[in-house]
Amino acid sequence: MSKNKKTFFIKINSNPYRAKEGQTVLDVALKNKIFITRLCYHPDTVIQGSCRLCLVEIKGKKGLFTACNTQVEPDMDILTDSEAISRAKKTNLELIFTEHCEECNDCIYRYGCTIKKFAKDYDVKINKFPDRKKDHPVHDFGPALQFDAKKCVDCGICVDICKKVGACFLEYEKVGDFYEVVPSSKPDKDCIYCGQCITHCPVGAFEGVGEFEAIEEPLRQKDAGKTVVFQFAPSIRSTIGEEFDMPHGSIVTGRLIGAIKQLGIEHVFDVSVGADVTTIEEAKELIERLGDKKATLPMFTSCCPGWVKFLEFYHPEFIPHLTSVRSPQIIMGGLIKTYWAKEKGIDPKDIIVISIMPCVAKKYEIERPENMIGDIKPVDHVLTTREFAQLLKKNKIDLKNVKAVNPDPFLGVPTGAGVIYGASGGVMESALRTAYKMITGKKLPQLELEQVRGIEGFKKTEIDINGTKLKVGVINGAANAKIILDELKENPRAYDYVEMMACFGGCIGGGGQPVPVNDEIRKKRAQGLYNVDTRNNIRMADESVFVKNLYKEFLADHDNVHKVCHTKFSKKDKEVYPKNYKK
Ligand code: FES
Repeated sequence: MSKNKKTFFIKINSNPYRAKEGQTVLDVALKNKIFITRLCYHPDTVIQGSCRLCLVEIKGKKGLFTACNTQVEPDMDILTDSEAISRAKKTNLELIFTEHCEECNDCIYRYGCTIKKFAKDYDVKINKFPDRKKDHPVHDFGPALQFDAKKCVDCGICVDICKKVGACFLEYEKVGDFYEVVPSSKPDKDCIYCGQCITHCPVGAFEGVGEFEAIEEPLRQKDAGKTVVFQFAPSIRSTIGEEFDMPHGSIVTGRLIGAIKQLGIEHVFDVSVGADVTTIEEAKELIERLGDKKATLPMFTSCCPGWVKFLEFYHPEFIPHLTSVRSPQIIMGGLIKTYWAKEKGIDPKDIIVISIMPCVAKKYEIERPENMIGDIKPVDHVLTTREFAQLLKKNKIDLKNVKAVNPDPFLGVPTGAGVIYGASGGVMESALRTAYKMITGKKLPQLELEQVRGIEGFKKTEIDINGTKLKVGVINGAANAKIILDELKENPRAYDYVEMMACFGGCIGGGGQPVPVNDEIRKKRAQGLYNVDTRNNIRMADESVFVKNLYKEFLADHDNVHKVCHTKFSKKDKEVYPKNYKK
């Protein structure tokens, strides 16, 4: 907000508060920790003003006002509670419940449902009126997520967040007498599986495929004589603690491994090690492209499957910019089913790899035929952070009380560079640490590249490598990619290297992460990962003892590098819904 905005005092519930021109009543209330009920307000989206649960009275003015979109004025005297407010909120809540069919057992808010709490506070009978949407369908969006129109209260947050992500796949359509949220039927709109609709919907109308129905199924394969292996993504260590009431950004790596072992799983690997391999391959490819006048530049990162789908569907003309390096999850799964399987003497077909991932798009990534190694699928199942937390809760395992256990040493311990992959800018920073050393023979003077860190949607900087300026850009939120893609249409050499993540803040803000989420939470989760990096003795992928041995023993064979570490991309058409994906 501009420094020139006028400040003045207002009163809320008879107490004076400083306010600024342009703020809303809700802004001032939130800043001063005054609670106002609200449902369709989310700090990440534009104001919807649709739920009418944030009603307040303003002395001297007739009627009730919505706090989320009423701007403050000097000397405003506001009441957040009165008989008239309660009556109106009660009616509005009753109307909301006519839209929302409760299916509380399989709802991501089952342990903290906002509307049920409001119903209790305002003494609302949730079934007073019949459910208007009881015959509405469940829409499958590919192998990653589902939208249950029976639960949707049409608040509009998902439509806005989908637009902010850049897909614009969710929209309003007239259904009978009402405007309702629907997936777009337009041929030029498709879901990119980022799952931001899941983490932003206040009533649990979106969920990952199999989020409640299939979490235990992969574990059962152990009973069928299979070797079940778990691997977890870099960001999980700083987010899953929230599901067990731990502070945002708590690092729980050892406890997470301990908890997986309590489920009877012997082998647990850290995908951050796969990230170290991704870093080496990506740094090599960047250097190759920079040295080849005919190569396509800038090079784009490709480890975010939501971003990859965005580019393949919406901007296929930019596909040659994507690095061919596979994502850390796919590389790690591939190493487990090739290198590790051989060492252990296990037939890869008898290994089941289960990933714990921050993201529902990772469910889509493992189904991409481009990621197969011959007839071997590197990863068999993906559980999101939320799903895995649910699995632990079902098994009465409280992460807070689990004893920390070290990772399986065979596939190594990650470097700090592998861990920061979970935050926006982390892939870029890791690759540049290694690329700089590969080019100059020296370490970067300052390993922390602060210019590419942070949750801002677009960051750009230049890194000096031996007198040559490497122009880099970092994007989170696929819609922000438009800034760079438009710039490249004008000036194709505006950048050399670009990191793109579909979700806000990168994987720490992924669609499979705990709810709720906002910028403050994203910052704390990212900081947790940076703290792990700072404390790590080894902070460069190329200095990892495991990675060095891997390149001597297994990846010295170019065929293995090609099969396990690289992939292809191609133009994608709109998915046809519904498809019979397994629930
Ligand atoms: Fe203000 Fe919904 S929060 S109308």
